[in-house]
Amino acid sequence: VLDEMKGLRRGHLTIAAASTANYFVPRLIAAFCKRHQGVSVTLEVTNREELLNLLAINAMDLAIMGQPPTSEPIAHPFMDNPLVIIAPPDHPLAGERNIPLSQLSGECFVMREKGSGTRGAAERFFAEHGVALRAAQQMHSSEAIKQAVEAGMGLGVLSMHTLEMELLLNRLVVLDVEGFPIRRHWYVVYPRGKRFSQVGQAFLDFTLQEAPHVLRAPPLTTGRDTSPALETP
Ligand code: PGA
Repeated sequence: VLDEMKGLRRGHLTIAAASTANYFVPRLIAAFCKRHQGVSVTLEVTNREELLNLLAINAMDLAIMGQPPTSEPIAHPFMDNPLVIIAPPDHPLAGERNIPLSQLSGECFVMREKGSGTRGAAERFFAEHGVALRAAQQMHSSEAIKQAVEAGMGLGVLSMHTLEMELLLNRLVVLDVEGFPIRRHWYVVYPRGKRFSQVGQAFLDFTLQEAPHVLRAPPLTTGRDTSPALETP
């Protein structure tokens, strides 16, 4: 009880997060460490496929990812993760309303690498809707994709969480495409039967209770009424 009031005085926390979660997990950790001042933290940032490998060998206290495996682990959703299509502001489709999906088949896309959860979700979505994409370019990070799209290399599919600055500065715009945003969630994940350290348990509880307050939604500049606001599930 005393520990709860004063926060944990010691302990080490290892978090493995999907590279897209890079854009908010440090803020969550910062808020947690403010409450538990004796805790030290290691954050691994990698893509979904690597996270699955790390989970399989129980190599961290908790994983944060956009699409947990359907089998073994326990996964709690704690925040929305909408995927949107981005373009440079001078793109011919920028400002168009209700762009039909079919109109994208001629466009060039800059996609994340294989093994990325973002890419997997986008590929599933387009396949389900019968749209064949020209994914000529591949890049291993959201940062690289944003720069490539800004520079006119093509369109991109990214999580809203990665776009705060670029939307604010009007360097990128979100296209109003039929069926978008793709609605997903962020999950905190651990192997079934996991034995938590005190600090691991505290971070799990903190994430589920506090994430919505600590992580405010990025501003939305899509110019539409039905914006893909970030909400808790
Ligand atoms: P990623 O993100 O694309 O960085 O692997 C995980 C996800 O959104 O599923």
